Amino acid sequence: NWTMETFIGKEIARIRDICGEKGQVIGAVSGGVDSSVAAKLMHEAIGDRFHAVLVDNGVLRENEAAQVKEMLSKDLGVNLTVIDASDLFLSRLADVEDPEKKRKIIGNTFIEVFEREAAKIEADAEKDLEERGGEAKGKIEWLLQGTLYPDVIESISFKGPSATIKTHHNVGGLLANMQLKLIEPLRELFKDEVRALGRLLSIPARLVNRHPFPGPGLAIRILGPVTRSQVKIAQKADTIYIDEIRKAGLYDQISQAFAVLLPVKAVGVMGDKRTYEQVIVLRAVQTEDFMTADWFAFPPEVLRKISSRITNEVEGVNRVTYDISSKPPGTVEWL
Ligand code: XMP
Repeated sequence: NWTMETFIGKEIARIRDICGEKGQVIGAVSGGVDSSVAAKLMHEAIGDRFHAVLVDNGVLRENEAAQVKEMLSKDLGVNLTVIDASDLFLSRLADVEDPEKKRKIIGNTFIEVFEREAAKIEADAEKDLEERGGEAKGKIEWLLQGTLYPDVIESISFKGPSATIKTHHNVGGLLANMQLKLIEPLRELFKDEVRALGRLLSIPARLVNRHPFPGPGLAIRILGPVTRSQVKIAQKADTIYIDEIRKAGLYDQISQAFAVLLPVKAVGVMGDKRTYEQVIVLRAVQTEDFMTADWFAFPPEVLRKISSRITNEVEGVNRVTYDISSKPPGTVEWL
């Protein structure tokens, strides 16, 4: 009979079997649940022959790259390289407003950066071999993907409505064209099973229960052009928002919560001075499957606290509004 413990044992054996004695595996991690659990499982199976790569695209959450590094590399021991490609991504995003263009730019730039890193890891392995005359490392032959069972079903049977409305770029699908064979250790699991697996692999609860975060990151939560200063505002607002949600003990009741930065200015007053600054929209939804969603009914005092903190602490924002649109007709994200 099926238990998570026997699943882990079998999956580790299967991974060792297909990678052989020397096979090297590369995989992108995002700090999300799926890629972290998959990375930890690979590490259990083949240790440092699994190379995790985190690409900092400049539109991650505040301190995200550092936090992922701390958790995956320091706490969980995964062989991780963090690439700061934020200048490259942000230079390509400058002046781009169209949401699908933003997605395309981020997706293509991601592939470019990731492939360059894969080539570098191989070159380093060869150099290492020449210099130290050690035993030859294997080539990178495999790509880890955190595909879950629902993704498998969706891709063989039908595409959900939002797939045709937005090109949902996530790391997985984008890299499938690399000349690598795929390893998909989560392909038989549902999301709640991935979480259970994560707990068994001692991944911290905070990560295991995390809300999903889209591949194109804050670029689809900043309406209008994405600049460093806009990213900063969006990050600060997001941090305060999530922080207050956690403090109120509501995080686990909400499926996804985030701040959206609007490219419009409104008049306000601060002390005895007129201000003319931007607007933050708070979004929080409850949903089973993200195909439909309801807005979350916050206790008013929580919203009050969030609004007051954001307008006081985030420079450039003088107004906060709450999004009371369901999906449909709205979507979860604003772009
Ligand atoms: P929508 O806005 O389509 O969002 O109602 C449904 C879920 O999908 C996420 N989402 C994305 N995830 N790349 C991703 O990896 C994307 O381009 C993308 N667009 C939306 C969204 O955060 C929500 O969880």
